[in-house]
Amino acid sequence: MNTQKSPREITRAVTPCGTTEGYMPGFGNDFETEALPGALPQGQNSPQRCNYGLYAEQLSGTAFTAPRGQNERTWYYRIRPSVKHSARYQKIDLPYWKSAPNVNPDVISFGQYRWDPMPNADQPLTFLTGMRTMTTAGDVNTQIGLANHVYLITSSMEDEYFFSADSEMLVIPQEGRLRFYTELGIIDLEPKEIAILPRGMVFRVKLVEGPARGFICENYGQKFDLPGRGPIGANCMANPRDFKTPVAAFEDREVPSRVVVKWCGQFHETHIGHSPLDVVAWHGNYAAVKYDLRTYSPVGAILFDHPDPSIFTVLTAPSGVPGTANIDFALFRERWLVAEHSFRPPWYHKNLMSELMGNIYGIYDAKPQGFVPGGLSLHNMMLPHGPDRDAFEAATTADLKPEKLDNTMSFMIETRFPQQLTEFAAKEAPLQDDYIDCWKDLEKKFDGTPGLK
Ligand SMILES: [Fe+2]
Repeated sequence: MNTQKSPREITRAVTPCGTTEGYMPGFGNDFETEALPGALPQGQNSPQRCNYGLYAEQLSGTAFTAPRGQNERTWYYRIRPSVKHSARYQKIDLPYWKSAPNVNPDVISFGQYRWDPMPNADQPLTFLTGMRTMTTAGDVNTQIGLANHVYLITSSMEDEYFFSADSEMLVIPQEGRLRFYTELGIIDLEPKEIAILPRGMVFRVKLVEGPARGFICENYGQKFDLPGRGPIGANCMANPRDFKTPVAAFEDREVPSRVVVKWCGQFHETHIGHSPLDVVAWHGNYAAVKYDLRTYSPVGAILFDHPDPSIFTVLTAPSGVPGTANIDFALFRERWLVAEHSFRPPWYHKNLMSELMGNIYGIYDAKPQGFVPGGLSLHNMMLPHGPDRDAFEAATTADLKPEKLDNTMSFMIETRFPQQLTEFAAKEAPLQDDYIDCWKDLEKKFDGTPGLK
């Protein structure tokens, strides 16, 4: 019997890194990647001597003893160990980048607030100098809470590198294109995408197309994870395969370089003679990742009523209290509205959680006016909010045919902790003084007689 298989019976993949060049798919996978052949040890983490004369080093993103399902670490194989990317430190000041606790007695955080887009700067601003903190919550020193920033970037980081020991950073571009050169590889990022940069991972940011503006949520607490889907099942919302982690890439550059570190809310610099982005190969599950928001599959009401906005959660960072997140990142994007005999926009409400929203593009259905792309709003803990008068009148008189909300993408950063405004947010940023007036013209329709008014 002839057992030889013809070539057609076995066809092997020729794209060893998945189907998106330069990235590996999956969320929290155990990845492995090498920029030079044979750089990654096989079968063990710490050989007596590494190939190419590389140094082995572990970056732990969780405590050594964290439960297996949460335990994250990555092994780097690099030209120099990180101790060579660190010299004596000096404190530096980045006056617009604030950390919690940052409670300013001259600022009233209790209120409904909305901001126009921050105007782009007319001076060179990098990822570091262009960070403008809007709100903070919790305490960076006890690793709970967050900071929300707007970034305004007009210049690349040249021979300058950064890492945050305080936080993982969720980056949400709104205008312009950025390239993140990280220890793990290269992430290109543009509007409609997001990236998560892990705590402790070194990177620099190049402005590819500018000026660039966007939002950053610094998460001081437990890492972002995908939310449980419950009865929704295994599919829809954010699917793990749509998250992309970069393949290994390294710099072998011997030039005077500056490394800036954020640690306990303070900034420090050190000067070295080479690029710290010298990781030739790595493996592990503690990694940078990007995600295309256009792959988010919304799930919603298909007969009547309006579900809680948590139905649109993309990522959640737990706080230790089940279901009560340190941060939920929710996405309001294009979708069909089909609910019968229902008030279709978000309802009026007050919330234990504090809600910061940003508009990436288009019109948000509860606020047809005033909440514009690049703008932000804040509805703090237990502050009432909901549709403005025009949205209410339109929604209560509409012919409820199936309707597509098109060309719209906004997001919400929701936290269990009240958010404190920075002085910049209250006094320098383009705050809309008349935001509260959007509800002023809501009428009293009740006159004691029954019937739909
Ligand atoms: Fe809300």
